[in-house]
Amino acid sequence: MSEKELIHLTINGQSVAVPKGTVILEAAKTAGIHIPHYCYHPGLSCVGSCRMCLVEIEKSPKLQPSCATPAAEGMVVSTETPETLKNRRSVLEFLLANHPLDCPVCDQAGECELQNYYMDHGRYDARFSENKAKKKKAYPIGPHIISDQERCILCTRCVRFTQEISKTFELGVIDRGHRSAIDIFPGNELNNHYSGNLADVCPVGALTDRDFRFKCRVWFLGKTNSICPGCSRGCNIEIHFNERFNPRYHQERVQRLKPRYNKEVNGHWICDEGRYAYHSIDAENRLCAPSLERGEDPPEVSWEEAVRSTAKSVREIMDKHGPAGIAVLASPQMTNEELFGIRRLFQDHLKIEDIEFRVPPGEESYSDDILITADKNPNSKGAEILIASSAGARNLLQACSEGRIHLLYIFHHDLTLSFYSDFVSSALEKVDRVIFQGSWNNPTAALADTILPAAVYAEKDGTYTNIEGRVQRIRAAVPPVGRSRPDLDIIAQLAEELGVTIHKTPASAFEEIARSVDVFSGMTYATVGDSGQLLKQESGN
Ligand code: FES
Repeated sequence: MSEKELIHLTINGQSVAVPKGTVILEAAKTAGIHIPHYCYHPGLSCVGSCRMCLVEIEKSPKLQPSCATPAAEGMVVSTETPETLKNRRSVLEFLLANHPLDCPVCDQAGECELQNYYMDHGRYDARFSENKAKKKKAYPIGPHIISDQERCILCTRCVRFTQEISKTFELGVIDRGHRSAIDIFPGNELNNHYSGNLADVCPVGALTDRDFRFKCRVWFLGKTNSICPGCSRGCNIEIHFNERFNPRYHQERVQRLKPRYNKEVNGHWICDEGRYAYHSIDAENRLCAPSLERGEDPPEVSWEEAVRSTAKSVREIMDKHGPAGIAVLASPQMTNEELFGIRRLFQDHLKIEDIEFRVPPGEESYSDDILITADKNPNSKGAEILIASSAGARNLLQACSEGRIHLLYIFHHDLTLSFYSDFVSSALEKVDRVIFQGSWNNPTAALADTILPAAVYAEKDGTYTNIEGRVQRIRAAVPPVGRSRPDLDIIAQLAEELGVTIHKTPASAFEEIARSVDVFSGMTYATVGDSGQLLKQESGN
């Protein structure tokens, strides 16, 4: 942006330059100055109703709302004058007059802006001794959200979210004066694909997440930046995990997912499907140990034994039938680094031609023009680039049924979701050795001779390439469950057993991808950073 397009102003004595149209509250952020606010949210329209963000502007007779006042050339703004501080205290006293004293049992504690601002700017002696207003408390307004009208400060962020983002219009402000409350319209419920975001936009404890309620105090949560694996959009998320996890209490390690702002991908939001899918991380059907037998509950073996046996089968089939006797079903659920491992081992070294990653979706999947895409894989784009796929999964299974494939290596897919189970089982029965490398037990895993348990996205590092060609990093928040391992570890160990050397860590794999695959050239984990980097062809470089 050229110097000409910038506005220069002074905030608390600091010189600030911001693009034209920036409001004072956002301009202050760029200088590291936080102006307390309630009704303002950067992803929603501005209503300027709570008056918490008022600041002093030189030559202006009254305090002005910093969320609604655009910065102007030469403006001199003060955010910490006696008058602004007095205003904040008064607003807090007004908002808290009828607020219930729920704090010890409120799920918002630790991330409640009433608590936080009271400690920073309130600390007045309460003058309100009347009975507090009584309103509807703790009642579900949809599958994911519980409402507590007594805690609500009527900032209307939630109402605007349903009007402007989900465009589902379930919420409104009903009644007038001190009876005003936010509620769903009669006969309606808050049931849209993005309703979980309302718990995020609510600055107090009025709308809370039914899934997270009373599970964990927020100060016990650790946070790791990652990417939602639920569809090809690749929404940026934070994985919140319990730092005091104790398996004795049968807790889940991951407690919730929160959207992470990325202007280019998901803005401030994520969909409910992605938000609540984390339960699968610690699901009971996770595969936790390698095994070498078919069936419901096969005996466990050591990793050394499992990998040695897999390598032996690969060698035997190669000797007897050549590379044509082996087929590989890679998965667009895997990271770029893992897919590159498959390419190095199976394509480049073993010269196997039957490698496929596309398996048709079992049922028609929901998509919209907000965030949700129809492709429920996080890395189809990466797989397209890194895997030279063959004639399709159906043809591959057909080749199995005809006895042309003697070893089938399946990564993650449950083929029974896409094809008739009879077709899958009769095809796999004809194969001498079926190897299943994946995270969850499923009907396809039950048909496999070898099970190699793999870590899920929250347990490993790597990158996905989203639908727009943006390469984004995932990071391990918790260790792999049981004796499962990241896919790349398993592939590298198998390669070693076969006498082939491939990269062993996601970082070294990514370096090699950047060296050898043109559209990734010049990329490093550092340049990808937290907001991702477009592939060369997509960025036009
Ligand atoms: Fe500015 Fe509410 S945040 S008036």
